Amino acid sequence: MVESLKWDDLGAARSEQYTEVLSRIGGLLEGEDDWVAAMATVACELHQAFEHFHWTGFYRLVRPDELIIGPYQGGHGCLRIPVGRGVCGWVAARKETLNLPDVHAFVDHIACSSTTNSEIVVPVLTPSGRLLAVLDVDSDDPAAFLPQDQVGLEAICAVLGARFQHTLSL
Ligand code: SME
Repeated sequence: MVESLKWDDLGAARSEQYTEVLSRIGGLLEGEDDWVAAMATVACELHQAFEHFHWTGFYRLVRPDELIIGPYQGGHGCLRIPVGRGVCGWVAARKETLNLPDVHAFVDHIACSSTTNSEIVVPVLTPSGRLLAVLDVDSDDPAAFLPQDQVGLEAICAVLGARFQHTLSL
């Protein structure tokens, strides 16, 4: 009972944090039509806001079969990921979020850092369903990402997908 109350509190606190971050991002991006500036700002805001985010960044879909790294915060990430490979490529191929409590259980996980234990990857989709990029967050903590993280990150990616749906230079 006490444990489940604590868990509920953690989830509620996290949802509140996402509401604040989303509002801050909305303000910072007001009038901004540059896609790279937007990704850089989102990566920075998220990375600063959450202690369990140890690598936060984007991989852009630059060709139908390849992702290339975009703005990020944290240690260096691998530069290119084929669609269909790794966690990011899995998400790009299926256009659906993957929340991995244990990256070591995902056979095709690409380890950019040996300290990563959990990871969430969210697609950035336009309203018509075109994939622009994926947002990748890694944590050294096991099972770091709650359902509230998924909801919050998907909301942020939906804003980006709608705002930059006409972006041609990905
Ligand atoms: N772990 C990712 C690779 C990117 S790094 O985590 C920054 C993957 O398996 O696609």
